[in-house]
Amino acid sequence: MAKYDNNFVDELRTRLSIVDVVGRHVPLTKKGQNYWGCCPFHNEKTPSFSVNEEKGFYHCFGCGAHGDIVSFIMNIEHVEFKTALQELADMAGLKMPTVKEKSPERVRLEDSYFDICERATKEYQKLLFEPVGADALAYIRGRGFTDDMIKKYRLGYAPKNNLITNKFGNLKQSNLLATGLVRHGDYGLFDFFRHKLMFPIFDPKGKVIAFSGRSLDGSEPKYINTTDTELFHKRHTIFGFNFAREEIYKNNRSIIVEGQIDAIQMQCHGFGETVAPLGTALTEDHIAILCKSNRNIIFCFDGDSAGQKAASRAASIVLPFVKDNSNVRFAFVTGGKDPDEVLKTGGVSAMKKIIDDATPLIDFLWNWVNQNYLVKTPGGRVQAEKFLDTEIKKITDKKLQFEYEQEYKKREFQEWRSWKKDDKPAIKLPDTDLVTKNTLIYIVNNFENIATQYADFLASLNISFDGNAPDLSWNEKQAEKFIVSLKLQRYRMALEQELKTKTQAMINGENITNEDLADIKKKITDINQKLEKLLYME
Ligand code: UTP
Ligand code: MN
Repeated sequence: MAKYDNNFVDELRTRLSIVDVVGRHVPLTKKGQNYWGCCPFHNEKTPSFSVNEEKGFYHCFGCGAHGDIVSFIMNIEHVEFKTALQELADMAGLKMPTVKEKSPERVRLEDSYFDICERATKEYQKLLFEPVGADALAYIRGRGFTDDMIKKYRLGYAPKNNLITNKFGNLKQSNLLATGLVRHGDYGLFDFFRHKLMFPIFDPKGKVIAFSGRSLDGSEPKYINTTDTELFHKRHTIFGFNFAREEIYKNNRSIIVEGQIDAIQMQCHGFGETVAPLGTALTEDHIAILCKSNRNIIFCFDGDSAGQKAASRAASIVLPFVKDNSNVRFAFVTGGKDPDEVLKTGGVSAMKKIIDDATPLIDFLWNWVNQNYLVKTPGGRVQAEKFLDTEIKKITDKKLQFEYEQEYKKREFQEWRSWKKDDKPAIKLPDTDLVTKNTLIYIVNNFENIATQYADFLASLNISFDGNAPDLSWNEKQAEKFIVSLKLQRYRMALEQELKTKTQAMINGENITNEDLADIKKKITDINQKLEKLLYME
């Protein structure tokens, strides 16, 4: 997006009518303020897809699809932003603006920033092996870093004093400030990183563009990173990518871990395709970068609840990138708090097992809703379903989206709504006859809402809802009426049975009072009244 002038997109929006653009794909009719048609992004027979000419956007009240001319073309034709722009430009008779080349002045400036970062890296590296860096060196060796690793990742030490400010005093101040290494304070410039173990952050080509500094005295925050600069944008920089790039390609997958020490240890223990976001925030840009090689990603998060949260966030971000040939999985670290610890205590084999056992995305999401919603209750199931619906909609490949939908429908049915042996109702209900069973299959397959609402009752019937049923052409009301009346009838049958048993018991001289019997009779009368009401209800 950044490369194309927003002005050009605006220009397209003003030149083109969204009704024309959408109208090429969807027949639209004007009703009131808006134009309406059947949504091209989900299956429907009555139009809930509206287009607003004045505001320049479309919105589907059925599936929530929403956007402007650009996103419409991208979604309907499954094309990238640039292709969509090209097509719209053609429609509007406009020429695509050429992406601006960097001016020589700009290139010179950036070179000087790179140069400062490189020189700072060397200074930090040198200090790590001098007496002033002894504590830092001892610390990182204690974390299992060999000298080769320290050298490869160019670790260093930023001293307590203003190393950069003093050493680089002869350089242009604005350039120094632009790297984020020094800042303005009340008493002039000062170093941003002081008394830190320094991890350079590289661009994909391996040039240092920023740093992450780990505190050495237990002070918080544990890590500070260079704030965004002209060279460094945290949103689309992935730690370790420059080293992992080849391996991601070769191994046909990437592994994402939470911390940078984890990423380094993984890379050095046979998982060269490992990277980490900087800080905890994984972004779409990170995924987009990794997906340029392949769409096979293993998220490997810490086993704590923060790790679980991060994983669900990651799932949400990765879904739009998932294609039919993607393999996205979630591994959870056990036997240590993070991959670094697992490697230390369980070795490479323990880590390999964690990676090999990773859960596929489709199962991860399913497990997630089952753990985070009260799926034993109708309300919880509805919430869980809504969550899954929103997530699935993020998959851009419609066929794949459909497959996910079907899979979850199946699981919702089998795992939430079918009979579970340990959930037997308190009173034994009579068996269900074939006609009733077929009617119920029809209802379950045609009226999701009703099936959900009465799921517990349906489950208690101890029947399989698999199989075909004749089309009864009912509406939702009729379906509900049927289920409610069935529920009442069956309850009545159970009560009648109870009445019979208790009467017999009383005759046998067991301790049963007339009140007990009257109680049951009263319940039966109530049910009969309810059934009658239901019968005459609209
Ligand atoms: P963790 O808190 O899990 O760090 O944060 P860790 O792996 O235990 O760190 P070590 O092993 O003791 O050194 C994971 C990642 O989150 C970011 C860092 O990138 C870290 O690697 N983070 C963490 C920050 O940016 N700031 C913080 O204050 C803490
Ligand atoms: Mn760690």
